[in-house]
Amino acid sequence: MVDTIERLEKTAHYIKSRIGYTPEIAVILGSGLGKLADYIEESMEIPYEEIPNFPRTTVVGHEGKLIFGTLKKRRIVAMKGRFHYYEGNDMDAVVFPVRVFKRMGIDNIIVTNAAGGVNTGFTPGDLMLITDHISLFCENPLRGENIDELGPRFPDMSAIYDKELRKIALESAKKLGIDLKEGIYSYCKGPSYESPAEIKALRIMGADAVGMSTVPEAIVARHMGMRVLGISCITNMAAGVLDQPLDHAEVMETGKLAEKKFSGLVSDIIENWR
Ligand code: HPA
Repeated sequence: MVDTIERLEKTAHYIKSRIGYTPEIAVILGSGLGKLADYIEESMEIPYEEIPNFPRTTVVGHEGKLIFGTLKKRRIVAMKGRFHYYEGNDMDAVVFPVRVFKRMGIDNIIVTNAAGGVNTGFTPGDLMLITDHISLFCENPLRGENIDELGPRFPDMSAIYDKELRKIALESAKKLGIDLKEGIYSYCKGPSYESPAEIKALRIMGADAVGMSTVPEAIVARHMGMRVLGISCITNMAAGVLDQPLDHAEVMETGKLAEKKFSGLVSDIIENWR
């Protein structure tokens, strides 16, 4: 565990020495939602290969770099390309960047993703504010010896997605005329998409959307006391909702179509962050 802290320290120190300031908010950009990075001003990029201890990305459509700069006069860091469990990464690697952010002094994080619509009232292209999550059958990123320096052994998860920030998100959506849905994100390990029976079961459990990311990052962020906001882009209807197979290309395409709306919303939320 001393080893984890040492690695975090080394990485946080490296990044801070290159950037020279501590951003206020970190944003993890989901599949096909990278356009937000284009709106960042005075940006400085660090490819993951250059960052000590950082894992590598392998997914098509995911670049691997941190982008630092200013958005709506606020200093942020955007993570373009995240680490998924299904890539073969250990959970430690999946959540490492989030821990580095906190170690750098960043207390706020926006986690975003592409997700399948489990709620049949959703339409591909919709954005969904994550109100809570389900990850009952998945490995917990805090499994193993607890790192007391980061947070408690049994952290409370009764308010993972910050209520105040959700209010800001809803206000931004209203102002921009975006029909922002709200719902529960269900985490599945992937990489295969879910079966129709699994989606039916998730729906009965209360899920509105399903995806292969976000939850590990949100759990470790809360473990460390960060404020978390989560937004899903519904890129497709989940398995069995429509009589057609799921396809990664469709996920990326819908992500691209919703990118402008998504970037506008996230920018406005950042502007009004409090
Ligand atoms: N299932 C899981 N992950 C996803 C989906 C889905 O339907 N769409 C985008 N990511």
